[in-house]
Amino acid sequence: MPLIDDISTLEQSALASLQDADLAALEGWYAKFLGKKGSLTEILKGLKDLTPDERKEAGSRAHHAREKLEASYQARRQSLSRAQMDARLASEYWDALRPLQTGHGHQHPITQITEELEDLFTVMGFTVMDGPEVETDANNFGKLNFSDDHPARDMQDTIWLKGESALMRTHTSSVQVRSMQLLKPPFRIVAPGRCFRFEETDASHENTFYQAEGMMIDKDLSVANLIHVMKTFLSSFFERDVNVRLRPGFFPFVEPGFELDIQCLVCGGPGCPVCKHSGWVELLPCGMVHPNVLRAGGLDPNIWNGFAFGLGLSRLVMMRYAIEDIRHFLSGNLRFLEKF
Ligand code: DAH
Repeated sequence: MPLIDDISTLEQSALASLQDADLAALEGWYAKFLGKKGSLTEILKGLKDLTPDERKEAGSRAHHAREKLEASYQARRQSLSRAQMDARLASEYWDALRPLQTGHGHQHPITQITEELEDLFTVMGFTVMDGPEVETDANNFGKLNFSDDHPARDMQDTIWLKGESALMRTHTSSVQVRSMQLLKPPFRIVAPGRCFRFEETDASHENTFYQAEGMMIDKDLSVANLIHVMKTFLSSFFERDVNVRLRPGFFPFVEPGFELDIQCLVCGGPGCPVCKHSGWVELLPCGMVHPNVLRAGGLDPNIWNGFAFGLGLSRLVMMRYAIEDIRHFLSGNLRFLEKF
């Protein structure tokens, strides 16, 4: 009977195309084969031309075909929905209790050493001071005994702020006069912080670097006190006995001024490549505070005196960790920072 053959053919092709249908195509598939205007309905219009027996047989065949296709349709729909949900669950998986994958942060090596230095000086009775990075010409130069045409001004390549007499401080010595105006003598201060100079960078020069200023004001202080404080600090810092020596040095705000050297920590004196075979390494400048600086800070030089020193903090950290290039510090290079 042709009509029954048509139903069989329809069933075959409907099942075949169901295998290829995705979720979006399913409704279309249903309408095409089982819908009110679908293929099956179309075939069944031929029933009226059949004999009653034939009609009965064909009707039953059509009923089974519809049931089978309906069931296949539901099964396909379910398996596609489940697959879609599984894919979503897999891709959107989030375990709120899973430990974070990122590493732990830690302090920058400069910050570590700054805190260590603050601790060592605090033990010796020093107060930690802070000063602004944007400074007045007066605090950075004028009150530190740099005259307007003083050649020493040219020693500093200064970053000036546009249209103002303000500048980026070139050294932490700018905190000296601030401290004298803020504190009642006698006092001892240490002031670590950032400094700026307008210069070409290379392995030992940065436009942004770190210093720590030290200053002690009292009555009748001498170079011996300066040497003692420096020796005590350096021996604690390097965790061994450090020998120091002074050579003359010139800075407008100290008189006399010195360059302090330490005996080479690598060879201990006989000479090696690190100390360029001299046995000594230049470490920090220092001196007795110039009377003009005391006056600028409001102190009477006939009553008060003191010493000051300027530690190259970046350099100290480089020595401690054998870092070969100062530019690593502000590079933001995590592979460098992770070592500390
Ligand atoms: N401020 C000087 C500089 O950056 C260093 C310095 C020299 C500081 C002598 C001092 C000092 O306190 O006494 O070049």
